[in-house]
This record gives sequence, C-alpha cells and structure tokens, in this order.
Amino acid sequence: MRMLVTGGAGFIGANFVHRTLATRPDARITVLDALTYAGTRASLAPVADRITFVHGDICDADLVNRLVAETDLVVHFAAESHNDNSLADPWPFVRTNVVGTTTLLQAVRTHDVRYHHISTDEVYGDLELDDPARFTETTPYNPSSPYSSTKASSDLLVRAWARSFGIRATISNCSNNYGPYQHVEKFIPRQITNVLTGVRPRLYGTGANVRDWIHVDDHNDAVWTIVERGELGQTYLIGADGEANNRTVVETILELCGKDPNDFDFVTDRPGHDLRYAIDSTRLRTELGWTPTYSDFRAGLTATIDWYRTNENWWRPQKDATEAVYAGTERVTG
Ligand code: NAD
Ligand code: DAU
Repeated sequence: MRMLVTGGAGFIGANFVHRTLATRPDARITVLDALTYAGTRASLAPVADRITFVHGDICDADLVNRLVAETDLVVHFAAESHNDNSLADPWPFVRTNVVGTTTLLQAVRTHDVRYHHISTDEVYGDLELDDPARFTETTPYNPSSPYSSTKASSDLLVRAWARSFGIRATISNCSNNYGPYQHVEKFIPRQITNVLTGVRPRLYGTGANVRDWIHVDDHNDAVWTIVERGELGQTYLIGADGEANNRTVVETILELCGKDPNDFDFVTDRPGHDLRYAIDSTRLRTELGWTPTYSDFRAGLTATIDWYRTNENWWRPQKDATEAVYAGTERVTG
C-alpha cells in the first residue's frame, strides 16, 4: 500500500505515521508537509529512514498532482488547526484548509485515488452545558470560528466532489485529541509544560467549557477502520465518551504533577468560545466495529505528562514563542 499523508509532521499526522508503521510495517508512506510553525521533522525522527518526506505545500497543484499520481491512498491531515490563531488572522486558514483541500480533491479526481478526509466535531458548532444531546452524523453544520468554518467548508467540498465527480472518499469528524507530539499552543500540552516550567496554568473564562477528549492513537485506529471498512461517500464521527470541563482537566494535571490543584489563573475568555462538544460515535462502533482502547482519561493524561517530562528537547524550542503570542492578548482575571 502506497500512501500519501498530508500534515504528517504535525500532531495527529505524526502519530498516524508512527501508528501505521507499528501496525502495518509494509506501508509505503510519503509525508507531504509545509513545516509551518506547527510542524517539525523532529516528530518523525524515530521513523525518518522508513518514510519519504516531501517538504511542500498542499496548495502547490503541480507538486500535489505528481505525488497523488504515485499513490494508492491519501489521508489528509494538513490544516491550520488552532482556533485562537484563526481569530487573530483567518487568511492562512482559508488558504490551507479550503484552497489546499480543493487542490488535493482535484488531484484525487484526476488520478482516481482513494481519499480520506480528517475533520473536526467543531463543524457542528457547540451544545449547551446542560443539554444531554450529542453530535451525530446528521447534526446540521453550524461552525463558530474562522477555523471551524474553513474545516466545514472543506468537508462540504469533499461531499460535492464525491457526489458530482464520484471520487472515492470518506470523512471523519473527531473530538479533541491529546497525546505525544501535540504543539504547546494547545490546551493540555500548554498546561502541562506550564506546570513543568513553574508557570500557573491558564483557564479561559470560567473554565466551565466542556471538551470530549480522545487519545490520538484511538483517533488514528478509527481512521484506519474507516479507510479499510468505511462506506465510500460517508461520514463517521469519532469520539471516546471523554467529556470533561476545562477546570477539571487543569486540576487533574496539577494533581498528577504533585501540585496544589487550585494553583491556576483564570484569564480573558476566547471570543465566541464554544461551550461544549460531545460526540455520539454509535455509527462507527456498530457499523464498523471500532472501540477505543484508552478508556481511562486519567491514565492517558499520566502517560502524556510523562511524555512531555521526558521530551523537553522536543517542546522547549516552541514554548517561549508560543507564550509570547498568548501574552499579547491574555489578561489574568482571577
Ligand atoms: P497540527 O497543527 O498539529 O498539524 C498540522 C500540520 O499541517 C503541520 O505539520 C503543518 O506544518 C502542516 N501544514 C499546515 N499547512 C500546510 C500546507 N499548506 N501544506 C502542507 N502542510 C501544511 O494539527 P493537528 O492537531 O495534528 O490536526 C490535524 C488534522 O486533524 C487537522 O485537519 C485538524 O482539523 C484535525 N483535527 C484535529 C483535532 C485535534 O484535537 N487536534 C481534532 C479533530 C480533528
Ligand atoms: O474539537 C476538535 C478541535 O479541538 C480541533 O478541531 C482543533 O484543531 C483543536 O485545536 C481543538 O480545538 P479547541 O479549541 O477545543 O482546543 P484548544 O486546545 O485550543 O482548547 C481546548 C479548550 O481549552 C477550549 O475550551 C479553550 C480552553 N483553553 C485553551 C487554552 C490554550 C484554556 O482554557 N486555556 C488555554 O490556555
């Protein structure tokens, strides 16, 4: 199996490459990644001699066309992925997430290559904190941020290319991932590395917002399940029943690090901050037989903290620059 993994130097893409080589040692993987601030070859260092790495942009139609012509499967992870950045400057999100996805779709259409599209539960907007509802494959799209709007656009482009041009595509929409190699701008690694460097964790607003956490390996196993057994043209939601509010997550990180669980600050809220995400993954479980293996969030967090503790050389170069960006907008409120 020859496969093209876009965004394979980023968080989920790099974990996908590691997981694939561990479970499918014969896979022939080409990674296409632009190495933005969010991507680093260090995340692929342990497998560097087992893959082909192409430093390039998914908006480069000639390059994408050449690479797609030489592959049997495209798994498309590459994206601008951080909500806060999309509020500060939406243009890279429109370019990569919309134009880049369209560039890939045209190439898979030309060469009739199987395509799997990685997307997010944020396309559905948010739920009330006290609403028992969860997102399903039929929940209407209602994105809130420039990031989620561009991901929703990319999903709709995939659906249009499947219906109008018959491309062989599937889509997955996953909840919040955690695990190794996640950029320190994101909530869990930011708080872990704050604690490890003696800085108080930072909670937006009141800390009541809820996210539905899934370990990145469970996400990537679900992607393989869909690639191998999913119905073409269909969408599958991926989630592991991991709802927790942000305050509880911060308190747990502090406790697992041996600190006072109240040793955090509240800061200014994110504009338009989605209240709650929750995934109903019944379809993926009943139709395709997937189940998550990391059922204990506390155990997964402990392993993730250990990873950041022992891999400071991986995250240290990004930390100061990331905190400098936050310092430009963030104000302690309590
Ligand atoms: P990330 O920001 O960690 O990695 C993105 C990667 O894409 C980086 O390596 C970056 O260099 C690369 N990239 C960006 N623009 C590019 C371009 N124009 N051409 C080529 N490469 C480019 O993101 P992530 O958290 O790993 O997310 C991966 C995918 O999963 C995204 O599509 C995201 O929307 C989706 N997703 C993420 C989560 C999550 O919790 N992180 C949850 C659900 C879905
Ligand atoms: O739901 C899937 C999405 O999850 C993905 O599509 C996105 O790519 C990914 O970044 C993530 O989006 P969120 O906005 O939910 O993740 P983030 O890590 O930025 O924030 C998680 C929650 O924590 C959110 O409610 C905001 C809050 N937060 C975040 C940071 C960085 C804080 O309270 N403090 C912080 O310092």
